Formats: sequence, C-alpha cells, structure tokens
Amino acid sequence: MSKYIITSALPYAEGVPHLGNFVGSILPADVFYKYIDMKGEDAIFICGSDQHGTPIEIQAIKKGITPKELAESVHEKIKEAMARFECTFTYYGKTDSEKNKETVYWLFDKLYKNGFIVEVTDIQPYCNTDKLFLADTFIEGTCPFCGYEKARGDQCENCGHLLNPTDLIKPHCRICGGTDISFKETKNLAIDLKKLQPEIKDFIDDRKGNNWSITAINKPLSYLEQGLKPRDITRNIDWGFDVPMEGFKDKKFYVWFDAVIGYIGITREWDEGKWEQYWKSKDTKLIEFMGKDNIEFHTMMWPGILIGSMDNLVLPYTIKAYEYLTARGLKFSKSNGIGMNVENSLGVMDPDYLRFALIYRLPETSDADFSIDLLLEVVDKIMNDKIGNFVNRVLTIAKSNSEHIGRIEMSKDYGSKIKSIIEKYKSDFESISLREALHDLIDLAEEGNSLISGSEPWKMKKDLSDTEVKNRFSEVMGNLIYTVYAIGVLSYPFTPKASGDILDYFGISGKPKLGLLDAGINLDYSKEVKPIFKKATKEQIEKLKMFSD
Ligand code: MF3
Ligand code: ZN
Repeated sequence: MSKYIITSALPYAEGVPHLGNFVGSILPADVFYKYIDMKGEDAIFICGSDQHGTPIEIQAIKKGITPKELAESVHEKIKEAMARFECTFTYYGKTDSEKNKETVYWLFDKLYKNGFIVEVTDIQPYCNTDKLFLADTFIEGTCPFCGYEKARGDQCENCGHLLNPTDLIKPHCRICGGTDISFKETKNLAIDLKKLQPEIKDFIDDRKGNNWSITAINKPLSYLEQGLKPRDITRNIDWGFDVPMEGFKDKKFYVWFDAVIGYIGITREWDEGKWEQYWKSKDTKLIEFMGKDNIEFHTMMWPGILIGSMDNLVLPYTIKAYEYLTARGLKFSKSNGIGMNVENSLGVMDPDYLRFALIYRLPETSDADFSIDLLLEVVDKIMNDKIGNFVNRVLTIAKSNSEHIGRIEMSKDYGSKIKSIIEKYKSDFESISLREALHDLIDLAEEGNSLISGSEPWKMKKDLSDTEVKNRFSEVMGNLIYTVYAIGVLSYPFTPKASGDILDYFGISGKPKLGLLDAGINLDYSKEVKPIFKKATKEQIEKLKMFSD
C-alpha cells in the first residue's frame, strides 16, 4: 500500500499569511490531504513556520525584540489561525527547533562526507554605515531581469528569479536606507548542484509526469539547460542555526537550507519513532504544495540535498505549484494598512465560506483575481442558493413526509448521472485538480436542483394516498436524499463544518470516509432542519469594506 507525505510550503513566521499566500499552498494541501484521508490512505500532512531568514531579523531589529521572540509569537498566531481555518495537519511544527537543528546537522554532515559541499569565495555587499554584511533581504535594488524596483538580494518577488546581491541594480541597505555599500570578499559553504545536476535531471525526467504543474516542470528544465551552479547554504548573519565547521563558526545556515529540511525535522518533531517509516519507504508518495516562487528551491536545492545525502530519502513525487491570487479592490498584503489575512478574515466569515470561495478561485494554471464582489457572489449564489437551499429543501420535505419515504436509494437513470459526477470528482482529486473537484460538488447540487424543479415533489404531497404517486414520491425523495448525503460526504475537503452538519442528519460523526457513499443510509427525520449556508449579512459586508482599497 502506498503511503503519503503531503506538505505545504512553510509560511514565514514574519507575519500571519494573507489569503493570497494561504490559497497558494496551505489550503490546497489541506483540501487534498482531507481527500486522501477520506480514501483511508496512510498519509501524514506536514507543515510549520519558517522561522529563520533575514525578513524576520530585520523586522525584529525594527521592533526592538529578538528574532526568536518575534518568530515564536508569530508562529503561535499562525498555528492558531490555521486550526480555526479547519486545517488538519498531522503536525504543524517550526524550523527553529532542536529536532530540525539535529536534522540539518545530520544532512549537512552527509553532504559533506559525500563530497557535495564546497567552499566558495563570494563578493558580498557590506553596509559601511551599519557595519554589516547585507545578505538576502538586507539589501534591495532593481531586478536585472524584470526591472522591478524592490527586488531583494536573494530573489525578485515579481518575476521569481533567484538573485545574488551583486545582481541588483542601484542597491540600498534596508536597515539604514543608505547606499554607502562596499563589496567585500567573504567565504561561504555551498551545495554543489553542478555535481548533482545529472541526478537532479533524472529526478525531474522520471517524475514530471506525476501531475506536476506545468510551471513546476518548465522552470527546472530551463535552469538545467542553463547549467546548475553551486548554491550558497551559509550567510553572514546573526539569526539562524550555527554552522558547525571550523572557519565558518561566525556564520549561520541559509534560511532555505533549514526550511526545506524542516519537512523532515518537523516530521521528527511529530514522532521520532515513525518518521523513517514515511521518509525512507519506497512506497511513499511525497506530494508538495507551494506557490510558484518556491519552485526553484523545491526542484533543485531540495532534491539536491535528498539525493546528495545518499541515505534513501524519498524524493518529491509531485510538485504542485500555484500561480498568484491577486486582489482587485481588496487588500491582501499588509504593505499599506490592513490586509485580509488568515487571522482577521475569520472575524468576518466562518472558515467554510472562505475556504470554498478561495478554492473556487484557485490559481491553478494562471494568476487569478479575487474581489469582495466575487466572494459575495460565491457565498450568496453558489453556496447559499445552489447548495444550501437544495439541502434545506430536501431535508424539509423529507422531514414532513417521512412516512412516505422508503429505502433511501437512487433510481437507475438519475443514479447513473450522480455516480458519474462522483467518479469525475474522484478522478479530479487524483490528478490534484481541486477547482474542478469543487465544480463537481456544485454539479451534484445542480443535478439535485433540476430533479426538484422537474418533479416538484411538494405538489405530490396532496395525492400521496394514490400508490403510484406515493411510489414516485418515494423514488424522487430517495434520489434527492442520496444527493444531499453525497454532498455531505464530498464537501468535507472544502467545507468541513457544513459536511459535518449535513452528515449529522444521517447519524454520522467524525471524519467521513469515501466508503460511506456505498453504505446503507439512514436519515434521522426527527432532527430540526437548519440552514447549511447563509447569505452574507449587511454587517459582514460592512466589515469587508475594511479591507477594500
Ligand atoms: N517560507 C517560504 C515562503 O513563504 C517557503 C519555505 S518552503 C520550505 O516562500 F520548504 F522551504 F519550507
Ligand atoms: Zn545600512
């Protein structure tokens, strides 16, 4: 039997992620994990806070606290918000932990002994005012590839290109804002991706058929074409894990080195006795979710570390990378005022609504736009009108005519339509097409709605003494109730709360399994029928305006 490790890119513990970050990685990973779990697979879902890195160091300097204090408090906030968002990680850990440090040192040692660590002499920018090396985001300038003016020393956020500080045009220091920058020689350690290139290429060629996002295939192929170079894994900074090697003891490991290793470190933090069963098994499928700006690290450095360790660690099976969700008339990022993030958005709406609307707009193949209007349209017209009202009508009619309803099963023709939608839902999940799978769920409600309006069961109520009418009524209700039930099961990955509410009418509690779809169904007619979804209220719409431009 296969095993699964499902991961989401680790959010920086710099601030709570905004909804654009959340939909680009953690949310789809959670939705997919919930599906895999419904199938009854042996799967773990691993995520955590990425606590190192210069953005955290800079913010801590600005706030006058230590990076550790900042990273710990933000970690707690993210962890709590994720739980409220119904994200069911097997473990939500963090990178600045003893277990992760141990894992980083172990893999570093392996890479070193296997000859994949090289010493490089770099020219690094140095701020003469602050008297420090300006690694990564300590320096900002214009991107030589796209002209974006706020490119950072390690990566351009706009075009996604990885950069070296020396690539930046018109650089300035982010601490003092000054431009009195010299370039000094300094020694660092690097992972020799050049030497690992053939194995990395084999890895991509071997696995890229496994439902990878197109960009997750194309980007690495183009990097490989250009030829890989050693990539620095240490920095001249204060915040991070010490480098355990003579000559480098004044440096720290680069955030991305211990972040990707964090997937293993966090699994060990979860269960030291079990991690190897997943990370060292030939049967494991490692499915990794991330935003498109994370592709390079996950397809080059990360497999480089895994391969170079020569310790039979599993390589990613699928790299699922998302495009950007931009916000029109709505603020996501915190840069100018309040942005809609995983914490404050829950003060406006319950997680089901946000999860559903975000997946509805999941940027699977191209950048997509999100707006208040879209959110409201999805909540009112799809969740409330199409799904919620359907469930409500069926349960209400059923409750008041229960004595005329026989065994709950579907008729042949209607049943084959519903079954084919369910099959499509499953195959969309297997290919990790989550937006499509959500549309399949909506299609179930559409089928149900057209059966209701075509058969008008409420009109049959008067003539239920007639056997033919009674049989027809029972058949229609059997079809409708099964459809409600199927929606109850299959909505679980997207809207876990609504799923639980629906399944409660059927006497089912706890995490649902797909096998329920083929089991006998009992509807508890005595339960009071309450709305599953509601339209957005005036107060909610008022609150949303807080986030508008
Ligand atoms: N913190 C990074 C980001 O938000 C992602 C790190 S993913 C990991 O872009 F694999 F390195 F952990
Ligand atoms: Zn400076």
